[in-house]
Amino acid sequence: IESDYQKLSQWAAEHVIERINAAKPTKEHPFVLGLPTGSSPEGMYACLVKANKEGRVSFKNVLTFNMDEYVGLPESHPESYHSFMARNLFDHIDCPKENIHILNGNAENLAEECARYEQMIAEAGGIDLFIGGIGPDGHIAFNEPYSSLTSRTRVKTLTTDTIIANSRFFDNDVNKVPKLALTVGVGTVMDAREVMILVNGHHKARAMKAAVEGAVTQEWTISALQMHQHGIIVADEPAADEL
Ligand code: GLP
Repeated sequence: IESDYQKLSQWAAEHVIERINAAKPTKEHPFVLGLPTGSSPEGMYACLVKANKEGRVSFKNVLTFNMDEYVGLPESHPESYHSFMARNLFDHIDCPKENIHILNGNAENLAEECARYEQMIAEAGGIDLFIGGIGPDGHIAFNEPYSSLTSRTRVKTLTTDTIIANSRFFDNDVNKVPKLALTVGVGTVMDAREVMILVNGHHKARAMKAAVEGAVTQEWTISALQMHQHGIIVADEPAADEL
């Protein structure tokens, strides 16, 4: 628990840097990083960009897999997760383009796209560190409440709560928010060798309580983290208020 968002972001970035540097990744044995979108990781990404520019960390031998993407939103749309990642991270670091993986929400066959993604993660040797955020309802990636805790990458219908929460990125117009998304499953996240979840703000305090002190339940998909051997939640004080 850190006192504020800035410190939370710095802690998270330092953890990522430490893990990548300790692994001494090479082209043959890259470090495999799972990445989130949303406002929660923006501060961490800013710290990682800075550290990369200062030469404290390199992403040359890092493979990345993003958690999710909207269905049917053009990649060039400013709120697509492709655009978000380019803007916040990939345009500013030394990660080669071919190392970056983001689900294609415009694939002709979405089920095939999801299966292909799982296959690529497996071929990469699994994910070393999966970073995530959560929604106020405790969803991780787009694994809405009542998603199976063993779920894999698939198409999900967004809940009304998530559509309302994310409408702030779409001119506050719920009609502009895509209704479907592709998302890694809870099982996909939990298979990672380490999982780090970023939670900030008082509006996430209920979800934090459910995640940490509640039962493991698909009602709060983040609660699956309790079953992980190496699960970390990095929170700020307002998010930890209900603990
Ligand atoms: C979306 C994303 C999640 C993210 C959540 C919270 O639903 N699919 O991965 O964790 O938003 O976003 P924020 O960090 O902006 O609160």
